[in-house]
Amino acid sequence: MLSLGIEGTAEKTGVGIVDNNGNILASVGEALIPQAGGIHPREAAEHHAKTIPKLIKKALNEAKIDIHDIDLVSFSKGPGLGPALRSVATAARTLALGLKVPIVGVNHCIAHIEIGRLTTSAEDPVSLYVSGGNTQIISFEEGRYRVLGETLDIAVGNLLDQFCREVGLGHPGGPIVEKLAKKSSKYIQLPYTVKGMDLSFSGLLTATIRKYEKGASLEDLCYSLQETAFSMLTEVTERALEHTKKDEVLLCGGVAVNKRLQEMLSIMCDEHGAEFYVPPAKYCGDNGAMIAWLGQLMYKYHGGDDIENTTVIQRYRTDEVDVPWMKSLGS
Ligand code: ATP
Ligand code: FE2
Repeated sequence: MLSLGIEGTAEKTGVGIVDNNGNILASVGEALIPQAGGIHPREAAEHHAKTIPKLIKKALNEAKIDIHDIDLVSFSKGPGLGPALRSVATAARTLALGLKVPIVGVNHCIAHIEIGRLTTSAEDPVSLYVSGGNTQIISFEEGRYRVLGETLDIAVGNLLDQFCREVGLGHPGGPIVEKLAKKSSKYIQLPYTVKGMDLSFSGLLTATIRKYEKGASLEDLCYSLQETAFSMLTEVTERALEHTKKDEVLLCGGVAVNKRLQEMLSIMCDEHGAEFYVPPAKYCGDNGAMIAWLGQLMYKYHGGDDIENTTVIQRYRTDEVDVPWMKSLGS
């Protein structure tokens, strides 16, 4: 049984094809490069509308199948930008109705975790989900993925993106900060804000911009920004690991490709005798395969959605969804 998944919660459009055994037959994508000022929800929506048809063709070619071989259409139902989500849902409905196949809307955050479990050996991990829109520490407890801690303001990817935008380094900020950080080892004191298992990055953003305005070098600031933000993430993950008594950590989301963050978490896991997992880079950031795969799991355990229930949920919480496929593993 083949699932075609469509992703488009923000500026990246993705289409993936995955079978019911978790074999990824195709995963293609295209990102909108925003002008100065960040992502405009309406522009993201137009980008998806324009890009989805050609990405579907590309994915079918990659998978070497015909469109009529598709048995299920999956799409990201939220969380995300309203207009972007509605573009994706419209495309998914059109495709499912045209092909006369079931449709299923899935939670984007859970899709990041499930593609991580599929592409690594992680079974029941503490997940650190870090991206442009989300920063959450998640653990499976009593039938659902529970958010043990999260950012109280902006996401860590957004911190890196906004910093780069403010100092004129371009977009997306994450890879630029990672590259510049390698050129320095001089730590400049920056605010470190962890409250239990929650974090705050907005004070860190403002302070780093102020230091730049006062003449600190971009290399030193990128290094210090990474060291500070990633230490905060490592501290809360360590706390979650101790709290849950689990023995695996899964890093997922677009920021997960960062080598320094991987290194810090891997050292922490070693100290705790825990396994550390990170998916292949192409499945860390937003992609269609993760939506197609979660679609398979949701369809198997919950069935398809009625077309009236395919509306989007902009603030779709990770812990709103029952995940029966995990029950045999966790508590
Ligand atoms: P979500 O909807 O889950 O919040 P998203 O729209 O932010 O996802 P992702 O592809 O999951 O999309 O993540 C993009 C983020 O990843 C951006 O903030 C980007 O700067 C960050 N990123 C990409 N590469 C790196 C890197 N090498 N180091 C740090 N951050 C990175
Ligand atoms: Fe994402």
